[in-house]
Amino acid sequence: NIKGFVFDLDGVIADTSVYHSKAWHQLADELGVQWSEDLANNLKGVSRMDSLELILKTGGKENDYTQEEKEKYAAKKNTNYLELLKGMNASAILPGISDFLTSLEEHDYKLSLASASKNSPLVLEQLGLAQYFKEKVDPSTLKHGKPDPEIFARGAEVLGLKPEECIGIEDAKVGVESINSAGETSIGIGDPNILNEADINFTSTTDLTLNNIQKAMEVGQL
Ligand code: G6P
Ligand code: MG
Repeated sequence: NIKGFVFDLDGVIADTSVYHSKAWHQLADELGVQWSEDLANNLKGVSRMDSLELILKTGGKENDYTQEEKEKYAAKKNTNYLELLKGMNASAILPGISDFLTSLEEHDYKLSLASASKNSPLVLEQLGLAQYFKEKVDPSTLKHGKPDPEIFARGAEVLGLKPEECIGIEDAKVGVESINSAGETSIGIGDPNILNEADINFTSTTDLTLNNIQKAMEVGQL
């Protein structure tokens, strides 16, 4: 039986994945790396340094910079990202999410956050949603990023639950893979062709309701 929900943040709870994309796009232009929708999709859920590595690799520039220079570029992206976050408020919460969180609390489900973003505490504060996520995985303590199961496994652990008692919610392909290999039930939010490994797929957060999840699962599982 499902007792908890482990949430991704960017692109699931808030519309911040577009800000991450914008900030990386700016940096890719500066580095002379061709931006594409595929690259944007492949960056979803990927940690800051791994994202920079992927951008450099895409442009065949993975050997062009020292570690120090790479850290400088990653810091620059984060400065751009923080600039875009300024003034962000509850209006950036994706449609249906506030109601969904309220209903999860009403039904006594436990909630945790499994975001790769070091900015997630700040984002939750700005959205006014911090009170829902007292249990969070600290991404700076992880050995491996998504698609490794570590972050979603820890998301269940911090709730004192077994993986099979949890549903993980993700908008990134690597995130769905992480949920699945952690042994949790996966919900993918977005393009079903990209998130084809998700146990349950919703194209929009507006479809994220206990009712719809119940319908998509085997009888009695929720
Ligand atoms: C999330 C986002 C990624 C972002 C990563 C690291 O997974 O989907 O786009 O690169 O977090 O975020 P940070 O805020 O730590 O740079
Ligand atoms: Mg995401």
